[in-house]
Amino acid sequence: MASRAGHRLTTAATGAAPDGLSLSVISPAIGAEVEGVDLSRPLEPERLAAIRQALADRHLLVFRDQRLTRDQHKAFAALFGPLHVHPYHAKAPGADREVLVVKADETSANVNGEEWHTDVTCHEAPPWLSLLYITRTPEPGGGDTLFASTARAFEALSEPMQAFLAPLTAMHEGAKLYTGNYDMAPPPGGWPKAVHPVVIRHPESGRPCLYVNRGFTTRIEGLGKRESEAVLEMLFRHVETNPEFQCRVRWTPGTLVMWDNLSTQHCAVWDYYPHSRYGERVSVVGESPQTLLSS
Ligand code: SIN
Repeated sequence: MASRAGHRLTTAATGAAPDGLSLSVISPAIGAEVEGVDLSRPLEPERLAAIRQALADRHLLVFRDQRLTRDQHKAFAALFGPLHVHPYHAKAPGADREVLVVKADETSANVNGEEWHTDVTCHEAPPWLSLLYITRTPEPGGGDTLFASTARAFEALSEPMQAFLAPLTAMHEGAKLYTGNYDMAPPPGGWPKAVHPVVIRHPESGRPCLYVNRGFTTRIEGLGKRESEAVLEMLFRHVETNPEFQCRVRWTPGTLVMWDNLSTQHCAVWDYYPHSRYGERVSVVGESPQTLLSS
């Protein structure tokens, strides 16, 4: 149970994990800072299980003061499943395809993730987890990332709206973000696209989560064009404009944040031009998101 002082929790205190992982909650709906874990060292199975449980409870975890090589970053991510290859890398066989460089400086015309989104939902089996390790932050500050809980967002909808959304599916298209926003040429065969349920059941927590996002979702199947646009815009704004579903992560060099893409959306704030920010993201492939109605 949380005490008032600093909202400190231990997973042992919540009964969620046996080894007393120490957490500081960021906001009631989402996020926790994890203390006392060095991700460059091997993790005992109990500690790994506690991290996994904490992630299911809090949706995103912040690990500060890390010193990780690229291989250590990938090795930690790989403890949770196979690593994801971003569609950007379909044309780059020589590059380290499992690492997405996230950087901005005075030459940048845009930055990764400026619009609210969930990572790569245009894939049939989108990345379940993303782990971003930031090593350079802008000197004057800025470059925070906003996160929203899509579990909390679903719970806050009225019952009639929940019931309306539950059986629906929606199209997610890579072209919307990668060509529409960034003007990138598609890889051979085109950008991926996939149909997913509008509401999914989280495989670990069992919580229903809204699963449409402004970055990739183009239409709700079975609705008229204007109906689909209106419902999607309402849902996007519901997630993006409600501070009570959200938290804000302020990065310091050596911070790794891991987030659960099934239960979150995020948005990178580009308020530091012409200063520089640098990080590398590794993601973990998940199963195809499952409808709320299948269980
Ligand atoms: C992203 O993964 O969308 C980038 C997030 C960030 O740069 O904070």
